[in-house]
Amino acid sequence: MQKLIIKGKKNLFGSIKISGSKNATLPILASTILFKKVSLKNVPMVRDVFTMLELLRYIGFKVKINYKKNSLSISKSNLKLNPIAPYKLVKTMRAGVLVLGPLLSKFKKAKVSLPGGCAIGTRPVDLHLFALKKLGAKIRIKEGYIHASALNGLRGGKINFPSISVGATENAIIAATHAIGKTTLTNCAIEPEIKDLIKFLNKSGSKIKFEGRKIIIEGSVEFKNSNHKIMFDRIEAGTYLIASALIGKKMNLIGIDPKIISEEIRILKKMGVKIRVFQNKVTVFYSPNIKNQNIKTAPYPGFPTDLQAQMMVLMTKAKGISKIKESIFENRFMHVPELKRMGAKIEIKNNIAIVKGPCYLSGAEVMATDLRASVSLVLAGLVAESRTIINRIYHLDRGYENLEKKLLKCKAFVKRV
Ligand code: UD1
Repeated sequence: MQKLIIKGKKNLFGSIKISGSKNATLPILASTILFKKVSLKNVPMVRDVFTMLELLRYIGFKVKINYKKNSLSISKSNLKLNPIAPYKLVKTMRAGVLVLGPLLSKFKKAKVSLPGGCAIGTRPVDLHLFALKKLGAKIRIKEGYIHASALNGLRGGKINFPSISVGATENAIIAATHAIGKTTLTNCAIEPEIKDLIKFLNKSGSKIKFEGRKIIIEGSVEFKNSNHKIMFDRIEAGTYLIASALIGKKMNLIGIDPKIISEEIRILKKMGVKIRVFQNKVTVFYSPNIKNQNIKTAPYPGFPTDLQAQMMVLMTKAKGISKIKESIFENRFMHVPELKRMGAKIEIKNNIAIVKGPCYLSGAEVMATDLRASVSLVLAGLVAESRTIINRIYHLDRGYENLEKKLLKCKAFVKRV
């Protein structure tokens, strides 16, 4: 099994080009089920994307990937399409459930494996099913699979989500574009990745409008061919922003839209991180005096749960007591015992982590448990004294493109063995 070895305390210096967004690519790929052919650019070549492509191949689509250009195309093959998402693919990536809406909308029936739990919590799919039922789907759970049908096709409807879910909003939007009639979604997630999905669907012929947390979709669209350039990965950008704040001499993060990460930039500036914002990049300068801060994760435009673990590492370097309240997932502190083994002083009280800083971090052998927890250990390793060995780094490969290459280019010592 591969490990990552990091020798800490090496100042980062240089530029990092931020990749395309994994979380924008996945729903857009799921929506290609409704198309004849789609070409995509700026696609991150990461494992979750490959899993979704494998799922599309399983359903019967042809996939061509240009790894060097970060582009790909998906087209209908001559094979009979198979509206099934099997357990072996959905269990490794929960976003596999995003094919449920488009499959059902197109084939009037679908069989999609229930994803099951994962390290950060139970992560149910009830909101996805709630939305599809409102569009007329009949749903049965049998032998670990969601069996969905809509014999006369899905019909537009009014869906008021009882709580905010990124994936359920995406599933409903995609299904509704092909349903008969108009759909109104309220209390939706409005993450930038959802806006990228809407941008793609609208330029392909759909009519989707949004205002606040309300989205209106005119249905009955027959999609043919389309193309799109995926937006930048705001979580990758946030991760390298925090890495730069921790141990950067002078770092440029390029290929981004800083407006989209304005909340992250605001909080980091408040903590004493010196950041200059340009139109398509940010520069982070050496920031020795980090101040404590309390934050709470929240749906966009709030502070993202996907940056909570990374932010906790920065808090170990802040003067005073910082608190993070995790309000999205119930079990997202799996990185804490590992960070404590490296010397961090963190206490957990219910869904709040209390971090006492500044503290001295020393390298240790640690274990990655999920995607964002893994990268927080990388950040801790970069700033810790001596050597850190991170096990189970396959989690990192799910969502970070060329992590070692990007860090090596900025003078870090990172080696995969
Ligand atoms: C997406 C992101 C993930 C991010 C999360 C929250 C992708 C591929 N993944 O995940 O990186 O951490 O948003 O920003 O875009 N919930 C239910 N029932 C459901 C669905 C969700 O109770 O049917 C709960 C979840 O357990 C969680 C909360 O709602 O507590 C938010 O989850 P959701 O927004 O759906 O996250 P994902 O779409 O899975």
